[in-house]
Amino acid sequence: MKTNENELQANLRLLQEKYQASGQDMNSYLQGLMQSNYLTYWDYINLDTLLTLQQPKTSFPDEKIFILYHQITELYFKLCLNELEQVPGRSSDAGFLLSRLKRLTAYFSALTHSFQIMVDGMEPEQFLQFRMALLPASGFQSAQYRMIEIWSTPLENLLQFELRASLAGNAETGYLLENIYWGRGAAELSTGQKTLTLRQFEEKYGQRFFQLAEEVKGKTLYEVYQGLPEEARNRSDLREALRTFDRLVNIEWPLMHYKSAVRYLKRDPEDIAATGGTNWQKYLPPKNQFRIFFPELWTEQERAEWGRH
Ligand code: HEM
Repeated sequence: MKTNENELQANLRLLQEKYQASGQDMNSYLQGLMQSNYLTYWDYINLDTLLTLQQPKTSFPDEKIFILYHQITELYFKLCLNELEQVPGRSSDAGFLLSRLKRLTAYFSALTHSFQIMVDGMEPEQFLQFRMALLPASGFQSAQYRMIEIWSTPLENLLQFELRASLAGNAETGYLLENIYWGRGAAELSTGQKTLTLRQFEEKYGQRFFQLAEEVKGKTLYEVYQGLPEEARNRSDLREALRTFDRLVNIEWPLMHYKSAVRYLKRDPEDIAATGGTNWQKYLPPKNQFRIFFPELWTEQERAEWGRH
């Protein structure tokens, strides 16, 4: 390949300036470049490591599907957090917010549609056996799922539904987290006590959730939207993108997920207690959790019918 001499000189000059600015010797770096290997696809994305991260607990082949699909979902959650974390830095830019919302909805839409892999994709007979080797672990313990919620809306909107109306003013983060809706999903069926699944989850992530909740106060997706000038707030494309995200995260994905729980766990005549030993039939349906990230974007009737269609 023929290199344009002028371009080469210009690039060398720029490089020299770059290294000089930080007191570095460009020649040493060029020698390093001579020794470096070409980048490969497999090294760049850490493929060999990635493909060693599936470690089934049993010999059922379908357990790999279960692990892989959870990992795929967690990677999508990471994509979501990558977008959410950027929003406060551009809080007055409605166009930026809209572009990030489009990405967020694309991720959750992909997750919702691909969930069929879980619903149809495993043999229930295998699932019912290998799940017993996974106790008391549960997808309930996905910290990224909770972080997406914490980034999206003030904790007040994630409080257990009956407590929301009586909430006067700004409640303490500790109180809000102690009474968060998900506490309901991890109460032991027989005693109402916190399950081991929840206790372990809180022990591992409780402090991080607290710190994150404090850090994002006033900067959640909802609050960034509310802080925009009225004209931007009234943009129909922005409002629609927020509504779509709300619907996907708080109705459509949970319904697909619930469908898989029903398909696999309803089979047992005694309605097998879920992995965490919880009353999941009551807890999981979105109409019972009543999570709405952006309440003011829904009419009273839409809110009243949340998750019912
Ligand atoms: C056959 C597939 C699945 C079944 C039967 C199932 C079952 C359940 C059940 C019963 C719960 C309620 C908590 C408990 O009792 O443990 C739960 C919660 C949860 N699962 Fe799954 N799950 C499945 C797949 C997945 C996948 C692929 C993910 C992806 C990460 C996931 C993420 C979650 C999350 C985030 C929660 C908490 C939901 C909430 O608090 O509203 N689950 N799951």
